[in-house]
Formats: sequence, C-alpha cells, structure tokens
Amino acid sequence: MAHCNILFILALVSGIINFANGKTFTCEDGRGSPCIILEMDATFNLTMSGNETQTSMFSLETASVDKNACICQDHSIRKPSMSIKTFPSNDTLTVLFSLETANVYMKPLFYMRPHKHFNTSDHNNIEFVTSADLPIGNNGSSYKCMSSQNIAFQRTGPYGMTMTMMNLHVQAYGIKNGNLSPATSCPADMPTVRPVTTGTTTPMSHTMSTHEPHSTITPVIIFIMYFLYM
Ligand SMILES: *[C@@H]1O[C@H](CO)[C@@H](O)[C@H](O)[C@H]1NC(C)=O
Ligand SMILES: *[C@@H]1O[C@H](CO)[C@@H](O)[C@H](O)[C@H]1NC(C)=O
Ligand SMILES: *[C@@H]1O[C@H](CO)[C@@H](O)[C@H](O)[C@H]1NC(C)=O
Ligand SMILES: *[C@@H]1O[C@H](CO)[C@@H](O)[C@H](O)[C@H]1NC(C)=O
Ligand SMILES: *[C@@H]1O[C@H](CO)[C@@H](O)[C@H](O)[C@H]1NC(C)=O
Repeated sequence: MAHCNILFILALVSGIINFANGKTFTCEDGRGSPCIILEMDATFNLTMSGNETQTSMFSLETASVDKNACICQDHSIRKPSMSIKTFPSNDTLTVLFSLETANVYMKPLFYMRPHKHFNTSDHNNIEFVTSADLPIGNNGSSYKCMSSQNIAFQRTGPYGMTMTMMNLHVQAYGIKNGNLSPATSCPADMPTVRPVTTGTTTPMSHTMSTHEPHSTITPVIIFIMYFLYM
C-alpha cells in the first residue's frame, strides 16, 4: 500500500516537473496531417504610457489557431506561418518560420487594437515586431525550450509589449507522420555542469543560468521523497 502511494506521488511529481507540455497549436497540410506543430505557453504584458501607464496582461489559455491563415499546405513552401487568435480581445499572434542553410528561425509578430485593452479612442491595428529572429534548431529536428524566455517587442508609439514564452516545443519543417522529430534543446534547459576541483583555485568565470534546469531538480525530489516514505 505504502509502495503504491510512493509510486503514485513520484509519478505525479515527475509528471508536473518534467513533462509539462505547452498548449498545442497545429496547422495541417492539404492531406490533413500536421505541417506546423507549436506547443507553447505564453503570457503577454502590454502597456500604454501616458500620464499613468496602463497595463494589460493576458495569455494563450483560450487562444486558438486561425486555420484559414495557416501557410504550410505543401512542403515546397519556404516560409510557413501560423496565426493564433486570442480571446476575448481578438488579437493575433503570427509566427513566421524561415530556413537558411539548414538553420530554422522563428519570428513572432503581434497585432492588437488598443481600444480593446485600454481606455483610449485609438482603434488602429498596431503591429509589434521583434528586433531579431529566434534560432530554433535545424531542418528536420524539433526545438524544445521548457525554460521561460522573455521576448521584447519593439515599442510602437505609446505601446510596449513583452511576451514570456515557456514549455516551447516547435517544428515547422520536415514533420514525419504527424509527430515532432527528436528535439534540439535550448542552452537554458541544459543541466548545469559543475566544474571538478583539482586543487588549484580558479575563479568561476562562466555565467550561471538563472533558471535551475528541471532535470537536476527531479532526482533530488525523488531522493528526498524516497527517504521520507521509507
Ligand atoms: C509589465 O511591463 C512593464 C513595463 O515594462 C513593467 O513595468 C511591469 O512590471 C510588467 N508587469 C509584469 C507583471 O511583469
Ligand atoms: C495628463 O496630465 C496633464 C497635467 O497634469 C493634464 O493637463 C492632462 O489633462 C492629463 N491627461 C489625461 C489624459 O489625463
Ligand atoms: C476578429 O478580427 C477579425 C479581423 O482581424 C475579424 O474578421 C473578426 O470578425 C473579429 N472577431 C471578433 C469576435 O471580434
Ligand atoms: C530540409 O530537409 C529536407 C528533408 O530532409 C530536404 O529535402 C531539404 O532540402 C532541406 N532544406 C534545406 C534548406 O536544407
Ligand atoms: C477614460 O479616459 C477619459 C479621457 O481621457 C476620462 O475622462 C475617463 O474618466 C476615463 N475612464 C476611465 C474609466 O478611466
């Protein structure tokens, strides 16, 4: 009985920590199989400066793919893209992909109408762009980044926007049988390598990751729980 409890709790703990999947968004090709798979959780912090800065926070929790705006019907398409509509403000997050000498890049664009978020008479459709494309691995592999990443969009007029992405797992080229290919991981997800002390003291010069990787947390928790239950 106690054994069952331990197994159950371990499964639960490792499930929560290691296998957190982002919300899944897919685009399909002409034959109904996925040609873009984007798993991602994201929160948005939109601000409007003025006498007092107004803030609007939202997420992708209730968002869905605009299937009519999918571009990846055919494998010869060089720049596939996906558009996601957020509710209730009806904003659009468009993700453009590109492939240059086997390296894949992702470029998020965000469109919103200020009067849906703030007390303003501005009804224009505001476009937010990032200053650089995000590298997301190679042609034919998927890209995984569970750690949270802040994407700063360029200010447009009084509007500023930051997107925080986490639990990212994405592929837009070479998806086989509808499944994500083996993943390349982002540096932030890599386990921290601890230098071996060899007697001489050398200053620690490498930058420490601000985000403790999940893969080192789980064994520690399992270890502690094992002893608590013995
Ligand atoms: C949202 O962004 C503004 C401006 O960058 C910042 O001052 C504020 O702390 C952010 N809010 C949250 C909850 O991150
Ligand atoms: C902003 O502040 C100025 C000076 O305090 C004031 O005259 C103006 O009416 C304010 N504008 C708004 C939109 O509240
Ligand atoms: C959302 O925006 C699109 C155009 O960007 C428009 O066609 C559609 O009617 C809007 N939907 C709602 C619920 O406002
Ligand atoms: C990407 O991979 C596919 C399949 O392996 C290949 O046909 C295509 O030429 C590659 N594209 C580039 C730009 O490397
Ligand atoms: C909205 O803005 C107008 C003019 O700037 C102001 O008179 C009004 O009090 C504001 N309403 C709210 C709810 O803040």
